Amino acid sequence: MRLLHNLWSILLLAIVCTAFYVRLNPKYRKISAPIVVAQLYNNKTRIKITILGQDDGSRRKQKLKANEKNSMTCNIPKLDVNGSDVIKFFSDPSPIHCKQGENWVYIDKDNTARLIPERKGANCHTQAISFETDTRNMIGPKEILVVGKELPHEMAIVTCSDNTTTWEASLLSLRKVKKATKNIQRKRWSVLMMSFDSEQKLNFRRKLPTTVGILEELGAVIMNGYNIVGDGTPQVFIPILTGGTEEELPLTRKRFDNASFVDDVYPFIWSNFSQAGYATLFAEDQSNLGMMNYRLKGFRRPPTDHYTRPYFKQNERMWRTNNVRRVGSDLQHKHWLRYARQFLEVYKGVPRFGLMHHCVR
Ligand SMILES: *[C@@H]1O[C@H](CO)[C@@H](O)[C@H](O)[C@H]1NC(C)=O
Ligand SMILES: *[C@@H]1O[C@H](CO)[C@@H](O)[C@H](O)[C@H]1NC(C)=O
Ligand SMILES: *[C@@H]1O[C@H](CO)[C@@H](O)[C@H](O)[C@H]1NC(C)=O
Ligand SMILES: *[C@@H]1O[C@H](CO)[C@@H](O)[C@H](O)[C@H]1NC(C)=O
Ligand SMILES: *[C@@H]1O[C@H](CO)[C@@H](O)[C@H](O)[C@H]1NC(C)=O
Repeated sequence: MRLLHNLWSILLLAIVCTAFYVRLNPKYRKISAPIVVAQLYNNKTRIKITILGQDDGSRRKQKLKANEKNSMTCNIPKLDVNGSDVIKFFSDPSPIHCKQGENWVYIDKDNTARLIPERKGANCHTQAISFETDTRNMIGPKEILVVGKELPHEMAIVTCSDNTTTWEASLLSLRKVKKATKNIQRKRWSVLMMSFDSEQKLNFRRKLPTTVGILEELGAVIMNGYNIVGDGTPQVFIPILTGGTEEELPLTRKRFDNASFVDDVYPFIWSNFSQAGYATLFAEDQSNLGMMNYRLKGFRRPPTDHYTRPYFKQNERMWRTNNVRRVGSDLQHKHWLRYARQFLEVYKGVPRFGLMHHCVR
């Protein structure tokens, strides 16, 4: 609940910042002075929200205006979440049951690695998982894991043994790499985006009513008119992250010989945040369908301070499948969410920009 509250306070800003960014990037968009649609002040979160850029019809030709009953051209239909024509396509998936025993090692609230009591005497080793290229990981040498300390690597293969059995999993635990810079005089807003693949607004309401309820209670701005710019995950994120569309930007499609790596040619907004002293994160939980890798050529270098692709790639290798739902015997999305919490907590006092994308079906 508290995490959600924090997340949301931050998420609101993502929307505002994106609106600003699109406006400020004249290379890809020619937008005249934005129309301030509304200014809201939320007493609970103490956030002032300025909504920009909605077409209120005032700039339209008079002749056209006269023909419009309602000055907005784009009327977004209000659909019933339980509409009889679609509701038959939705069902509740059965919970994932894991037959394996409990994970031996876990990361506690203070970000330290702990052994469960039943395995107290076990010996554990870690091996760093790190980025070599977007398609190849580097695996470090075996080191002894000191229980009760931070995991020595942000992404690690952990192997343990006691006298009779062994256990292995890959673990993820955020380690602080960026310090607060002195020249940040005033408090800055942080941005955290959490996205869920293949979801649309109505299904989010259908399946996550508690989350929607909390957001509404907090006075969140629900962007009912927001839409994807094309078809596919890149068409959601390329415009959000660069201010341009794939067609407007240089070629990055991997089946073309002359395609560029995305970080060589896309003006990713996280670079600007990074230059401004922000800690940055990009954490997508499925590597083979990566938004910048599936059809596009991917990154030449880790694009953000925290980049989880090597970790999820390794976990997929361990399970020999691309759609991994688990870390050992835990649910993978819980580890992914813990990582988001760590990002918010470890960088208290440092402004943050993060994109968390959930893709596993
Ligand atoms: C929010 O706070 C302002 C100033 O303290 C007050 O005037 C206003 O009534 C409050 N709004 C709500 C909805 O509580
Ligand atoms: C839709 O159906 C669900 C399950 O029957 C129900 O809990 C929910 O209140 C309904 N929502 C609306 C808006 O009718
Ligand atoms: C493993 O064996 C050693 C010596 O036989 C014993 O001292 C130790 O307690 C055992 N450890 C566990 C975890 O069973
Ligand atoms: C890349 O190659 C394609 C196909 O050969 C060509 O149409 C395109 O103009 C090339 N693009 C660049 C940036 O060289
Ligand atoms: C982001 O940084 C790039 C490179 O320095 C710059 O060209 C661009 O204008 C910046 N964008 C914004 C919105 O500040």
